Amino acid sequence: MRLIFLGAPGSGKGTQAQKLVKDFKIVQLSTGDMLRAAVAAKTEIGLKAKAVMESGMLVADEIMIGIIRDRIKEPDCVNGYLLDGFPRTDVQAEKLDELLNERGEKIDAVIHLVVDEKMLTQRITGRRVHLPSGRAYHLEFNPPKVSGKDDITGEELTHRKDDTAETVQERLEAYRNQTKPLVDYYTKKGILKEVDAIGEIDEIYTRVKAAVSQ
Ligand code: AP5
Ligand code: MG
Repeated sequence: MRLIFLGAPGSGKGTQAQKLVKDFKIVQLSTGDMLRAAVAAKTEIGLKAKAVMESGMLVADEIMIGIIRDRIKEPDCVNGYLLDGFPRTDVQAEKLDELLNERGEKIDAVIHLVVDEKMLTQRITGRRVHLPSGRAYHLEFNPPKVSGKDDITGEELTHRKDDTAETVQERLEAYRNQTKPLVDYYTKKGILKEVDAIGEIDEIYTRVKAAVSQ
């Protein structure tokens, strides 16, 4: 099964993805997590991406397409994957179609997580993340068992540099202008499924599973 999560920053892509990949035994391919790992490791891509990410803009299409092209060839992707944060522009979406065509593969469903923009700033500014795993918490809505520590490893949680009220506005604008048009792109292909992403995390997950299984 090959899936895409489409949704604004803070809509819950990462939170829902972690549950879904466990249940469906597929891998989560979060381009945001991959870029943050590259920044931490100071690789060539990381050095290029750092300032762009901190400003809230999108990293260049060629870089993102290169990352995904290589990643979907890895052996752990044979049972399927969930793209979390890719594609994010029409160029990325068209290129993904090309890459999949070449491999005789296709996307089964695109899940659009729909949230009122007014809720996003609060979700994002209160988020704390465990960088190595991508697990996300929220100071108020989804607190860790021990303050400031990851539930599974006990390691420190961090505050993403782009999770400030100012940068959220830039990220939302990038989403509106460059990513939201993909809702139309996948609707035309007949594979888009809308999921109301407001409410309790588990309640939303039930909706996501229902949409995937439709
Ligand atoms: P990325 O890491 O993908 O960030 P994003 O799209 O802005 O999305 P987020 O990770 O912020 O939100 P999410 O939807 O995963 O929400 P989460 O589950 O964490 O990308 C970062 C940057 O990398 C981009 O800005 C760009 O520069 C670059 N980049 C990445 N991919 C790219 C691409 N393809 N092309 C170009 N550039 C790219 O939840 C958010 C918070 O809300 C958490 O605290 C969570 O606990 C809480 N929460 C979740 N669900 C609920 C709920 N139901 N109720 C209350 N709180 C909730
Ligand atoms: Mg995320």
